[in-house]
Parts: sequence; structure tokens; C-alpha cells
Amino acid sequence: MKNVILASDHGGFKLKEIIKKFLIKKRKKVLDLGTKNANSVDYPDFAHLLSKKIKKNSKQIGILICGSGIGMNMVANRHKNIRAALCYNVKSTKLSRQHNNANVMTLGARLTNKNMALKCVSVFLKTNFEGGRHLRRVKKI
Ligand code: RB5
Repeated sequence: MKNVILASDHGGFKLKEIIKKFLIKKRKKVLDLGTKNANSVDYPDFAHLLSKKIKKNSKQIGILICGSGIGMNMVANRHKNIRAALCYNVKSTKLSRQHNNANVMTLGARLTNKNMALKCVSVFLKTNFEGGRHLRRVKKI
């Protein structure tokens, strides 16, 4: 079972709460690092916090949500052990796991609707890394 760590800024707060409920219903172990309400906060604080919690070579995955998914993505990818993917549909989500072995997904709550976001979360959780030539490439990142 993959442990899921969640974090968002104010722009992603509502969607984070929806995703949390969805994951708990699916019996996933969830750690929510905030933010705790819709008051304005700075997305880098939450992306750094989550990225530091994701351990190297573990089965943990992270979900970061902001307005666009872009800021969270930029911050998370500054961390050595993080491969964060901006997931905006099923195909991008699937490929981020199969080819890039992404361990963090970032979502844009203002650009991706709730149903698509939940679909992406399910796909991210169940799709495996294909390894092989993709492992060689991931090692070069
Ligand atoms: C906050 O207004 C917004 O800038 C943030 O949620 C995110 O979209 C940044 O990339």
C-alpha cells in the first residue's frame, strides 16, 4: 500500500480536502501537511515541507495542489529525491509514472476540475514504472 502525503496552498485547499476524503474512502494511509483553510499562504512553504518528507527509494507518494500546479511543481523539483509531474489528464498522469517514475504529482485546482483530478489521482496510484530504458533515462536526471 502506498502512503500518500498531501499539501496545498489556499488555491488548492478545497481540492485537497476532496482528494483526502477520496483517498481515505479508498483506505489509503494519508498524511495531510496543510494548509488548513482558504487563507492566503505561500505555496513554496508547503512544497518544501512535503518534499522533505518524501523519503528516497520509498513507496511514499506526494500530491501537491495549488492554483495552477506550476509553482508547486517548480519548488518540488528543486529537491534531489523528487520527480514531480504536473498531471492534467489521464495520459500525462500515466506517462509520468510509466516513463518518469514520478513520486509527486502536482495539480492545478483552478485549471483541472474535480472529476479529472480524482481520475488522475487514481491513475497515479495504480500505474507502475516501466523501468528498462526509462530507468536509464531517469538515472540521468
Ligand atoms: C496563488 O494565487 C497561486 O499563485 C498559486 O496557487 C499557484 O498557482 C502558483 O503557481
